[in-house]
Order: sequence, then C-alpha cells, then structure tokens
Amino acid sequence: TKLGIIGVPMDLGQLRRGVNMGPSAIRYAGVIERLEKLGYIIDDYGDVDIPTPDRKSNQMQDGLRNLNEVAEGNRRLAEKVERIIEGDAFPLILGGDHSIAIGSLAGIARHYSNLGVIWYDAHGDLNTSDTSPSGNIHGMPLAVSLGLGHDDLTMIGGYREKIKPENIVIIGARSLDSGEKELIRERGIKVFSMHEVDRMGMTAVIQETIQYLKEKTDGVHLSLDLDGLDPNEAPGVGTPVVGGLSYRESHLAMEMLQEAGMITSAEFVEVNPILDEKNKTATLAVELMGSLFGEKLK
Ligand code: ARG
Ligand code: MN
Ligand code: MN
Ligand code: MN
Repeated sequence: TKLGIIGVPMDLGQLRRGVNMGPSAIRYAGVIERLEKLGYIIDDYGDVDIPTPDRKSNQMQDGLRNLNEVAEGNRRLAEKVERIIEGDAFPLILGGDHSIAIGSLAGIARHYSNLGVIWYDAHGDLNTSDTSPSGNIHGMPLAVSLGLGHDDLTMIGGYREKIKPENIVIIGARSLDSGEKELIRERGIKVFSMHEVDRMGMTAVIQETIQYLKEKTDGVHLSLDLDGLDPNEAPGVGTPVVGGLSYRESHLAMEMLQEAGMITSAEFVEVNPILDEKNKTATLAVELMGSLFGEKLK
C-alpha cells in the first residue's frame, strides 16, 4: 500500500499557539521511517500552506474565530487529500488543530457513498457558532461535516453533508458541551464515553464499533485527537481533560482496527510541541500509527 502523508500546520482553530508545529514534531518523531519499516511506500506531500490572519488579534467573524483563514486552509487541504486518494494512496493527515478535519473529510467523503468516522477524542467537536462556548472552530469540525454551521465551512468541496450521523462513532468523550449533548441525542450519534470504556473495556468498545460501522459504510476515517488520551500520556495538547484513555487501551484500539482492515484514511491532531514534554505526545502519535498500520503483525 501507498501512504500519502500530508502535514497541516494549522493553529487558527483555537487560541494556543504552537499546534501549527505539530506536523514537524511528528515528522521529527520518525513517522516516515517507522511506516517505511512496515513495508509501506510513502508519498510525502509536504505541508499545506496555511494563511496568516490580517490582524494579530484572533478576529471573530460571525462568532467564528479566524473564519476566513481556517476556511481557506481547509479548502487547500481538501484539494491535496483528493489528490492523494486519486493517486491510490491512503491519506494520513498530521495536525494541526482539529479544525483540519473539515478539510480532510471534505476531500475524502466525496469518494465514498457512506463514509464512516471514528472520532477518538475527549470532546465531541459538535459545536456550531450558536452553541460554542469559545468560538474556536476546532470545537466544531464534526458538526460542520454533518452540514451544520457557516456555509464557508460546510460548503468546502462544493457539497454540504460529508457524513451521516448514523455513520459516526465517538470514543473517549468526557467533555461535552450542552449543545453537543443535545445534538448527540437529536441525531442518535453513537458515543462510547469514558463511562462505557470503563464499564465495557476497550475490547468490547472496538468490537461494537466495528460491528456498528462494518455493514453500512464503504470506508472509515479515523480522526484521532491526542487529547482523547489521558494528559499523563499526552501532555502536549491545548485542551487536556483528566481521566482519559490509557496508552494500552489506545494501542489495543489501533491494533484491533488494523485487524479489522476497515480504516481507509486517518488523521492525528492537536499535537502541540510548545506544551509538550520532550516531544512525548508526537512520539506517542507515531507509536499509535505504528499499531494502526500493523506493527504487531509485521
Ligand atoms: N468544546 C470546547 C469548545 O467548543 C472544546 C473543544 C476542543 N476541541 C478540540 N479539538 N480539542 O471550545
Ligand atoms: Mn475526486
Ligand atoms: Mn479534543
Ligand atoms: Mn478534537
């Protein structure tokens, strides 16, 4: 298999600078060497060019911080992701804050009729400007991909609905805003929060996830926010939440997804080397990719 790697140095979807250096940190942690060792052919597409905001302040437009720049960066990402897929490669996207899932999904979803999404995250990222406590677009990409929110975001790629609510599984949630909970109830989105992970164990959570998505999807995108893991494992993130998924649970999840052979694209986001401890979080991201891409078997 060919892997098409693309970095997205985006930090405009939230307020903490430094997450734009996530792709460099992940590259420095040896992502290419690690995956090459597993026998993959790597096409490195470099990094997407992210626009700089006109003003130094993080300007709000329609309740959305840095709307124009986040939208433009995601348009550029969507185009590159399309090129990767059209070159018959597996898109592996390195973030960057989680707002980049808007562009990833815009580029990916048009190549599937029923794309599934696994959202591995402490958060739901299901806000719109109406429900967001922050105006930060990194808290909105899953809502945007459902077609909810500002047209400048939802219409990237030229079509509105990238994914269907019944094709989403959220794993690791423990910080949901009230508007997000409402949307989850309303649309019947499947959530394995930390409560379910504790009760059922990760094995059952992933088995159910696979069963839930297998029949009805023709591809599954893994969107892994490093803050899904516990801050002790992943200190280099901008919005840490205590009580997260463990190192071992996360490797188990990646290995089971590899065994199921159902993941067709992936992104690893929110790695912020300024907040990190000796590149621990980027290193963790690369280790998880090792498991996702079959280190156990090869
Ligand atoms: N729910 C909060 C918000 O909307 C936090 C979102 C954090 N998202 C993330 N991708 N880390 O601002
Ligand atoms: Mn295309
Ligand atoms: Mn998160
Ligand atoms: Mn997130």
